[in-house]
Amino acid sequence: MSSDIVEFTAADVLGRLENLARFSAGGPGVTRLAYDSAWCDAHRWLAGQAKSLGLAATADWAGNLFFHDPALQPGPKAPPVLLVGSHLDSVMHGGRYDGAYGTIAGLLLAAANRGRAGLPVVGFVTCEEEDSRFHGGMMGGRSLLGRVEDRELDEVADREGVTWRQALAAARERGCAAPLPAGSVPRAPLFRPALQLELHIEQGPVLEAQHLALAIVERIAGYRRWIVHLDGEARHSGTTPMAMRHDALAAAAEMILAAESIAREAGEPAVATAGFVRPRPGLFNVVPGACELWLEVRHDRPESLRQLGNDVAQRCTDIARRRGVRLELEEGAAQAPTALSPALADVAAGLAQELRIPHRRMPSGAAHDTMVFAQAGIPALLVFVPSRAGVSHSPDEFTTEADLLAGVRFMGALCRRLAEHPPA
Ligand code: GLV
Ligand code: MN
Ligand code: MN
Repeated sequence: MSSDIVEFTAADVLGRLENLARFSAGGPGVTRLAYDSAWCDAHRWLAGQAKSLGLAATADWAGNLFFHDPALQPGPKAPPVLLVGSHLDSVMHGGRYDGAYGTIAGLLLAAANRGRAGLPVVGFVTCEEEDSRFHGGMMGGRSLLGRVEDRELDEVADREGVTWRQALAAARERGCAAPLPAGSVPRAPLFRPALQLELHIEQGPVLEAQHLALAIVERIAGYRRWIVHLDGEARHSGTTPMAMRHDALAAAAEMILAAESIAREAGEPAVATAGFVRPRPGLFNVVPGACELWLEVRHDRPESLRQLGNDVAQRCTDIARRRGVRLELEEGAAQAPTALSPALADVAAGLAQELRIPHRRMPSGAAHDTMVFAQAGIPALLVFVPSRAGVSHSPDEFTTEADLLAGVRFMGALCRRLAEHPPA
């Protein structure tokens, strides 16, 4: 059984990461939202990189991209493959590693394994994972696997009202997506994954604090999200006594603090976040009559997530009632806590041990494309490398060159082992 480290150079990984970070709508950090101009430029650059490495680059109808041996024809007759990759989009003002690192790893691993015996290794890049332009919920992974309803193309829209269908049409015109068949969205992936792997930065502080090089992820936290609509009474700020107000923003503020204390009381790994608040009309001299608030809770255990979400929703209802503010809790996209493949985790842990790489097993608090594959019943595994100070979704995201290289080399060895000896 071969467990040789696959040798990639710093230029292979770092140079390409640097290049990919240039495709951004503007700083600080990286802003590459699904199908926007920077995303399309990055998509085309990646396809060019694949070609220069002797690979074919094939996009599906949603703009997910595959890097593969040109001898391997995508479609129903293609053999099952080992898929390895990550996502192309970013949050607004995010870092240069989140998604991009796993994308470059997928490209290099497909190239390193081209023409080898065993399961073909195909790199993948999902079009969207972050929910930063659309609130579709893992649109990339779901569309790659055909787990999208036709109606979503017209119902999912960005803040400007541009629908998924319209945004996709613009990307298609730039050569970044295949034709969308009339009728219904394709249900069959271009490549059927026998196994799926993703390499990612940890986005948390554990590996660095414990001086470890790798984590093998056993499960990924799920989340529940709400767009909270609050309707109070817009009144003159100078003449309306405090006791006579129905201030929608003050209600939102109380809800934010309530969600925070519910998560604190529940204990780790429960988290609650209010990521967005928009009061109306937004003036010094008007008591806010309306407010939109985005709330999210996460946990890695299904029952605890359900309880956490129910507690937050109940407290919001109580606060709104006490303050005489009308409340609508609109459920946003949700993800169930997801267990990854124990068999793949065992192979990865065994390999890390053989290679004497300091590692541990751990859960992920962040969501990842890998959870969509696991939910579809595909044996799936996520591997982390350290993040400096645990910082992510920030321009300050950083991982050392040595850690980045070690992660790609480990994944090279893991791909070889799994391609040659897929677990039964
Ligand atoms: C993606 O990074 C998420 O955890 O929402
Ligand atoms: Mn992210
Ligand atoms: Mn990510």
